[in-house]
Amino acid sequence: MICPFVVLSLLVFGVAAAPLAPSQSSSLSIPIQKHVNVTGGHNLVNAGHSRARSFRDRTVSKHISSTKRQEVPVVNEAITYIAEIAVGADNQTFHLLVDTGSSNTWVGANASYTYVPSSSSVWTDDIVIVDYGSGYFFGYEYYDTVTLSNDLVIKNQSIGVADFQQGFTSMDGVLGIGPVDLTDGTILGSLAPVTTVPTVSDNLFNQGVISTEVIGVSFVPTTGAANEPDGELIFGAVEGSSRYTGQITYTPRETDYWGIAQSISYGDTEIMSIAIGVVDTGTTLNYMPTDTFNAYINTTGGIYDEVTGLYEITEEQYNALDDLIFTIGGTDFPLTPNAQIWPRDLNENIGGEAGKIYLAAVATEPVENLNFINGYVFLERYFSIFDNSNSRVGFAVTPYTNATTN
Ligand SMILES: *[C@@H]1O[C@H](CO)[C@@H](O)[C@H](O)[C@H]1NC(C)=O
Ligand SMILES: *[C@@H]1O[C@H](CO)[C@@H](O)[C@H](O)[C@H]1NC(C)=O
Ligand SMILES: *[C@@H]1O[C@H](CO)[C@@H](O)[C@H](O)[C@H]1NC(C)=O
Ligand SMILES: *[C@@H]1O[C@H](CO)[C@@H](O)[C@H](O)[C@H]1NC(C)=O
Ligand SMILES: *[C@@H]1O[C@H](CO)[C@@H](O)[C@H](O)[C@H]1NC(C)=O
Ligand SMILES: *[C@@H]1O[C@H](CO)[C@@H](O)[C@H](O)[C@H]1NC(C)=O
Repeated sequence: MICPFVVLSLLVFGVAAAPLAPSQSSSLSIPIQKHVNVTGGHNLVNAGHSRARSFRDRTVSKHISSTKRQEVPVVNEAITYIAEIAVGADNQTFHLLVDTGSSNTWVGANASYTYVPSSSSVWTDDIVIVDYGSGYFFGYEYYDTVTLSNDLVIKNQSIGVADFQQGFTSMDGVLGIGPVDLTDGTILGSLAPVTTVPTVSDNLFNQGVISTEVIGVSFVPTTGAANEPDGELIFGAVEGSSRYTGQITYTPRETDYWGIAQSISYGDTEIMSIAIGVVDTGTTLNYMPTDTFNAYINTTGGIYDEVTGLYEITEEQYNALDDLIFTIGGTDFPLTPNAQIWPRDLNENIGGEAGKIYLAAVATEPVENLNFINGYVFLERYFSIFDNSNSRVGFAVTPYTNATTN
């Protein structure tokens, strides 16, 4: 059967930061907790490819056949980012994966911890199905109160309550903060001719809780230390947050996703001319077009490592690395040598060997509108802003841009 559903990709959101002061005087922000899964052998590279395939399928066509999919869990990352939210009049808490690559919010992934309707719950007849390319959920759509923080209370938020899901473990569902377009086709409405579902940020804005529909995302590089700082999701005004320094550079949103245009240079050499791709909190690594990746790898001297699926470099090659520069909206966003490598403390989490150095970049087959994915490796170095009101994406330097924690 051809699935008529929108293919979405799942994103993992980051958490981060204890040494940072709360960014706002109000609590229009929520912490996002970083979960490091210490079980080795995560196949980050395949998980990312699977996600890239779902982005690509949506770019090419909204109708994809399930046979195209690879059976990789949606969430197969060593690092995931979780927000705790409350639903309903009784504030039932759920731990949701924060995802810029999809836009439906749903609970009920854990069959042992189901949603309990309360006095604020309104059941609808609408079935919701979201296909993430490598996993999916279906269930019924409810309207209910969703409480992100004391100051971020959403009335009548449309949420999915899963009857069945595949690909989600260790979390209760997803907090989808992608553009609302990504919800198109996820509701099978028997009554209302529903086409899209207002997202959490749409409702915060429509209900006057925030004055501009903007979400800021702060990640902090992973160190592997037990007590890592949290990340933060900021709703509404991000300006003035201590999570970034200097100016924000904005660039128009391209495509249904949080797509942007950028070019890439390694040192002084441009290795990708301006092209469109995606900014994705659910992808761990940075994906670059094959030619670009080859040029980068050939210059660094990386050797393919079968076990991790990443390219390994020697200490000497590491010391010789140049900056890898993403040029977005006319501004350079360099990844320092340290920002280009997988956190060495987490080598064993991905099946690698202690002490080795792996480059945190992967090649992807470029297609129209999906030439690259800037994943968490990029986003933990630059504060990111997803601006629905102005249909643009912003980036800014953070206290961690040049951190040497990897
Ligand atoms: C950790 O990752 C492994 C491999 O993907 C998975 O089987 C396991 O369920 C995960 N554990 C937790 C607590 O997320
Ligand atoms: C639910 O949380 C909100 C916001 O934190 C609070 O105002 C309200 O009193 C809570 N309700 C219950 C029943 O705990
Ligand atoms: C809740 O929102 C939906 C649309 O998202 C709307 O159809 C419905 O009337 C709203 N209900 C209330 C009580 O506001
Ligand atoms: C699922 O919920 C049960 C009951 O609250 C809990 O004990 C269990 O740890 C949860 N499983 C996961 C994977 O979060
Ligand atoms: C990089 O090296 C690979 C294998 O040696 C080769 O196939 C590829 O053409 C090279 N790419 C560039 C851009 O030099
Ligand atoms: C990071 O280091 C570069 C030099 O490699 C420097 O130009 C830049 O100002 C530094 N950025 C921050 C935020 O410290």
